Amino acid sequence: MDAVTVSDLVVHRGKRAVLPGLSFAVPEGQVTGLLGPSGSGKSTLMRAIVGVQRVRSGTVTVLGSPAGSPGLRHRVGYVTQAPSVYADLTVRENARYFAALYGRGTREADAALADVGLGEAAGQLVADLSGGQRGRVSLACALVSEPEVLVLDEPTVGLDPVLRVELWERFAALAAAGTTLVVSSHVMDEAARCDRLLLLRDGALLADTTPGQLRADGRSQDLEEAFLNVVRASEEVPA
Ligand SMILES: Nc1ncnc2c1ncn2[C@@H]1O[C@H](COP(=O)(O)OP(=O)(O)O)[C@@H](O)[C@H]1O
Ligand SMILES: [Mg+2]
Repeated sequence: MDAVTVSDLVVHRGKRAVLPGLSFAVPEGQVTGLLGPSGSGKSTLMRAIVGVQRVRSGTVTVLGSPAGSPGLRHRVGYVTQAPSVYADLTVRENARYFAALYGRGTREADAALADVGLGEAAGQLVADLSGGQRGRVSLACALVSEPEVLVLDEPTVGLDPVLRVELWERFAALAAAGTTLVVSSHVMDEAARCDRLLLLRDGALLADTTPGQLRADGRSQDLEEAFLNVVRASEEVPA
């Protein structure tokens, strides 16, 4: 089953077609990585999936309903690139506030904080945290609602390598429990952590693949090198 289906999606921002026409599907219960350099349209595409982006044409279907439908509100979690939590509340207060919004209890709030490695920092004001810690508070606030689809925009930026690995392990565990995750990144070394890969460049999909298939197509065990080989091949003008 596909959790997200995108058909002929066209999004303009300003006068430009940022997404000139995308089609793909995201299978449920997997981690799908949306990889591409800065400016390639990752955030725009994620906004379309959660239904906060004005689209020019095409359709985005999430769990069988049009993206942004009121019925999806509690079923789709979204963590933006800029942490969207309350600086003047503590970590725990933020988590409990979001838990209350989604009808969950303090136990779920505390569990979500522990999941992102913030159990110890629960009493600190968000204003006093590092950027990476704030990002994790945002993530905890999204986890607490236990959404069926979780859309995470560059959640590992600014995190130390140990925490990054822990978070990817957490994503894999969520997927194993049935959650569908769409996770963006601008660094290819996170691609190996994904079940599926959507490689975006200038708003177009260069590949809709898996790490294993990309290694085969790009003739390299190194995903970054494999990706570059695929890009080069796609740029060669047929004779
Ligand atoms: N509010 C906006 N108005 C006009 N153009 C925008 C706006 N936001 C983003 N863009 C442009 O859309 C393109 C894709 O941006 P974005 O989706 O943020 O890419 P990414 O998340 O991959 O860095 C970029 O060229 C960016 O300059
Ligand atoms: Mg972005």
